[in-house]
Amino acid sequence: MRLQNKVAVVTGAAQGNGHAIALAYAREGARVVIADIQLFKAEETVGEILAAGGRAIAVAVDVSRRDQVEQMVVRTLDEYGQIDVLVNNAGIADAHRFLEYPEEAWDRIINVNLKSVFLCGQAAARHMTEHGGSIINIASLSAERGFPRLAGYGPSKAAVKQLTKVMAIDLGRYKIRVNCIGPGNMITEMTEAFRASATINEQFLQRTPLGRWGEPEELTGAAIFLASEESSFITGTTVWVDGGYLCW
Ligand SMILES: NC(=O)c1ccc[n+]([C@@H]2O[C@H](COP(=O)([O-])OP(=O)(O)OC[C@H]3O[C@@H](n4cnc5c(N)ncnc54)[C@H](O)[C@@H]3O)[C@@H](O)[C@H]2O)c1
Repeated sequence: MRLQNKVAVVTGAAQGNGHAIALAYAREGARVVIADIQLFKAEETVGEILAAGGRAIAVAVDVSRRDQVEQMVVRTLDEYGQIDVLVNNAGIADAHRFLEYPEEAWDRIINVNLKSVFLCGQAAARHMTEHGGSIINIASLSAERGFPRLAGYGPSKAAVKQLTKVMAIDLGRYKIRVNCIGPGNMITEMTEAFRASATINEQFLQRTPLGRWGEPEELTGAAIFLASEESSFITGTTVWVDGGYLCW
């Protein structure tokens, strides 16, 4: 087991990509904090982990709120006494044509997708300075490519990728590594509408050399690797798990 004796906080782990990563971490021996705004679903994820013989707790948090993020860290330390791994996975997508993009929606997406990485990263890293750790941020193809109607999502993810580098530089002296995973088009609730659109679906499949959507479980190899000692000299980088989409 590659994450034995580690404590991992995974935000947005009630469903989708975060859910898959949390289950995989528990299988590798980590004690996992399922941190999500949807407490009921987070508790269901905990139930799955416990049923499989793992250890986990659920914590209700809005990752864009400093007070709640600090509570998440306090709760984790109360329960498990340490934080070794933080996965900044919680995120939202909101699509509007640029001219009609509501300011409130833009602020919300920047706060949930980007400010959360700053808040959770800072709160967890303040504890990790004592013994080192691994922070994994979740970016997107939107960090590298323009997509229509994603004037909030795209810039938020480009900034997450950039923030990863700055955090890696500032936190390296504390033996805290900070990396990013860039998922391609994965089958989750977030992408339901894209898969339902014949045009978008066709475009995505044509531009993905492997010719299909990814399953959330396919992110877990990179997520385990970056959390474990196997990646002990890797920091500040982005690992693309995208079926080759960015080859174009
Ligand atoms: N699905 C994809 O194709 C894809 C591609 C690239 C990147 N991503 C990124 O992966 C991450 C997970 O996305 P997903 O596809 O699993 O989406 P999802 O909608 O299935 O899951 C997102 C999770 O985040 C939680 N969440 C949302 N806002 C929150 C908040 N303010 N505080 C705490 N939790 C909150 C939700 O409750 C949910 O459990 C996101 O950062 C997303 O941008 C997804």
